[in-house]
Amino acid sequence: MDRICVVGGRPLNGTIRISGAKNAALPLMIASVLTDEALTLENLPRLADVSSLVRILGNHGVDYSIQGKRAGEEAVTGQTVHLQAGHIVDTTAPYELVSTMRASFWVVAPLLARMGEARVSLPGGCAIGTRPVDLLITALERLGAKVDIEAGYVVAKAPSGGLKGAEIDFSKVTVGGTHTALMAAVLADGTSVIHNAAREPEVVDLAACLTKMGARIKGAGTATIEIEGVAKLNGTRHAVLPDRIETGTYAMAVAMTGGDVLLQGARPELLQGALDTLQAAGATVTTTEEGLRVARNGAGITAVDVTTEPFPGFPTDLQAQFMALMTKARGTSRITETIFENRFMHVQELARLGAHIRLDGDAAIVDGVETLKGAPVMATDLRASVSLVIAALAAEGETIVNRVYHLDRGFEQLERKLSQCGASIERLSTGH
Ligand code: UD1
Repeated sequence: MDRICVVGGRPLNGTIRISGAKNAALPLMIASVLTDEALTLENLPRLADVSSLVRILGNHGVDYSIQGKRAGEEAVTGQTVHLQAGHIVDTTAPYELVSTMRASFWVVAPLLARMGEARVSLPGGCAIGTRPVDLLITALERLGAKVDIEAGYVVAKAPSGGLKGAEIDFSKVTVGGTHTALMAAVLADGTSVIHNAAREPEVVDLAACLTKMGARIKGAGTATIEIEGVAKLNGTRHAVLPDRIETGTYAMAVAMTGGDVLLQGARPELLQGALDTLQAAGATVTTTEEGLRVARNGAGITAVDVTTEPFPGFPTDLQAQFMALMTKARGTSRITETIFENRFMHVQELARLGAHIRLDGDAAIVDGVETLKGAPVMATDLRASVSLVIAALAAEGETIVNRVYHLDRGFEQLERKLSQCGASIERLSTGH
């Protein structure tokens, strides 16, 4: 299994090109199931999760071809993928495929909307809390589907005339629930309204693509989304938006090590809350024509409290990275996690590097230390793994991060992007 070796203590200087957003790419790819015409997605990141989803969609009969341009020496560019669901050959998404990635469960919505039935295994993905799908199922039921759980599978059937427009009121903000409701409602008969919808940029990106496919959607990006169902959708071409979580991750890495890095292609408005927090912690953040420049020269890191919240609040997907930064801050920081229970698995691994962190219910209290020291650590989920890399970049000596397959699920060419900016980071392949 691959491991990553980091020798800490070097500042980051240079340019990092920000990839297309994983969390936008996945629902966009799944939306291809809604039409028999081709959906062309540009700027798709090269990630294990994207490849897994290509396999899952292929199982339903989606033809795909990848037009990826290999990365040049200086830049990493996104790939262009054509997806065409001319004929759906199978409405079952089996356990072996769905268990690798939670988001693949969302395929239930377009299968149900287009084919009137879907049989999808309950999901897997990162082990952060229980992550149920009850809200997604309720949304489908509101649209008229009959849903049963049979032997670990969600079996959904539309009424004989197809799904019917309805009011869907989420009791909790859910990104996946909003994606699912959107994809089911676009082909339903009549008007649907999603209340308490997620406002995340990835929802806006999905709605923009669906609109180009002929869907009628109003209000994406607000808490109320209105969808007027149409009989058929067409193909289109859509570029995936830049990854705000990757952007925030590298911004925190620079704040941690010091230095000056241009995050090329980043869109600051997608993570303004996190950038404000980063500035309060001592980094300088400037918007440029090319993206975002993050620097910390001279000034130390100051402790800042954060609470994770749905967009536009501080994202839970940056919580672990911010905690890594706070391990070396002056003072004490309280980091409260309100989105997922049990999303603190990185705490004990950060402690192996010398961090002082204690848990207090849904909060972690981080007492900043002068120095971290390299050690062997283990990656436990996608965002937690990268927090270990960030800490390692500022630790004295060598850190070996084990189980890096989590990183490959969500960070395109991480070692390359960081080493181009002066980090000492390399992958040690030991075969499989
Ligand atoms: C998505 C993101 C993930 C991010 C999360 C929150 C993708 C591929 N993943 O995950 O990176 O951390 O949004 O921003 O885009 N919940 C229920 N019942 C449900 C569904 C969700 O109780 O049926 C709960 C979850 O357990 C969690 C909260 O709602 O506590 C938010 O989860 P949700 O927004 O649905 O997360 P995902 O869409 O799975």
